[in-house]
Amino acid sequence: MREKKLEPYPLQEEYEEYYAIPNTYSDSPEKSRIELRRGLFSILKELYNEKKREKLKRPLRVIGLCSGAHALEKEMFRTYNKEPHKKQWQEIIENTNWLTIDIARIVKKHFELFKKQNKPFTRYIRHITADAGKTLFSDNYFDLVYSNLGLDFLPREIGLKELNRILKPGGYFMLNLHHPDLLQSIDNKDEGTKKFWSYLQENNILYTSPEDIQDTFGRYGLKVDKIELRKAGFEKWWEVNGRKGLAADDNY
Ligand SMILES: C[S@@+](CC[C@H](N)C(=O)[O-])C[C@H]1O[C@@H](n2cnc3c(N)ncnc32)[C@H](O)[C@@H]1O
Repeated sequence: MREKKLEPYPLQEEYEEYYAIPNTYSDSPEKSRIELRRGLFSILKELYNEKKREKLKRPLRVIGLCSGAHALEKEMFRTYNKEPHKKQWQEIIENTNWLTIDIARIVKKHFELFKKQNKPFTRYIRHITADAGKTLFSDNYFDLVYSNLGLDFLPREIGLKELNRILKPGGYFMLNLHHPDLLQSIDNKDEGTKKFWSYLQENNILYTSPEDIQDTFGRYGLKVDKIELRKAGFEKWWEVNGRKGLAADDNY
C-alpha cells in the first residue's frame, strides 16, 4: 500500500493567496456539497435523536476539517434554516458545538467579516486556524467529523490518525475525497486549483479504488460503511461514510 512521506503542508501560502478574494471556492465542485450537506443533516438528526433519548447529556460536538471558505456551511444554513426544516434545524444547532478549522489564516479573517455582517452560520459555528493533522482536541472528543475535499491533502498517516484520535468510539465521519479522474478536468480550472490538484497528482496520494479506501481507513480503526462515486460532468470524487470502531471487532 502506498504511504508516501510528504513535506507536511506545503500549500498553506498558496491557499492564503487563493482565498484572498472572499467567496472563492471553485477548487471544489459545487455539486460536491449537495450530497454532503444532505448526509450531514441526516447524521445530525440521528445524533440529536440519541441526545433526546438521553443517551447524550451534553451538546453534540461537530467539526469540519479543512473548511476553506465555508461554502458548505453557508449552504447548509441556507438550505435547512428555512421551511420545512427550520424548526428541526434550529433545535439541532442550538444543541451543537460546531467548529471548523483550516490551515489558511485568511479563512478566519473572512469568517470575522461574515460575523460582522451577521451571516447566520457565524452565530452557531466557531472557526479556528489550525493544522488538521495536529489539533489540540482531546482524544475521543467529537461525535461527527466531516470534510469536503480537504483531508486528502494531508499525508494519510497524519490525517487519518488524527481523525481517528479526535473521533469518539462509534462517532461518525463523512468525507469527500478527490478521485484520481477529477484531475482530468484540470485544464478548465483556474491557476490556483491547477496548483492544488497538481500537488495531489504529483504526490500520488489519491485513493485508487473503494478497496484502497476501505483498507486504508480500516488500518486506522475507521470502519467505512459506504463509499459512493459521485460525479459532476468530468469531475469525480468519493463520498465516504463510516464510524470509528469501539474496539477491534465491536459493533458500534
Ligand atoms: C479543496 S479545499 C476545500 C475547501 C472546502 N472544504 C470546500 O469544500 O470548499 C482544501 C482546503 O484544505 C485546507 N488544508 C490543506 N491542508 C490543511 C491542513 N493540514 N490543515 C487544515 N487545513 C488544510 C486548505 O487550506 C483548503 O482550504
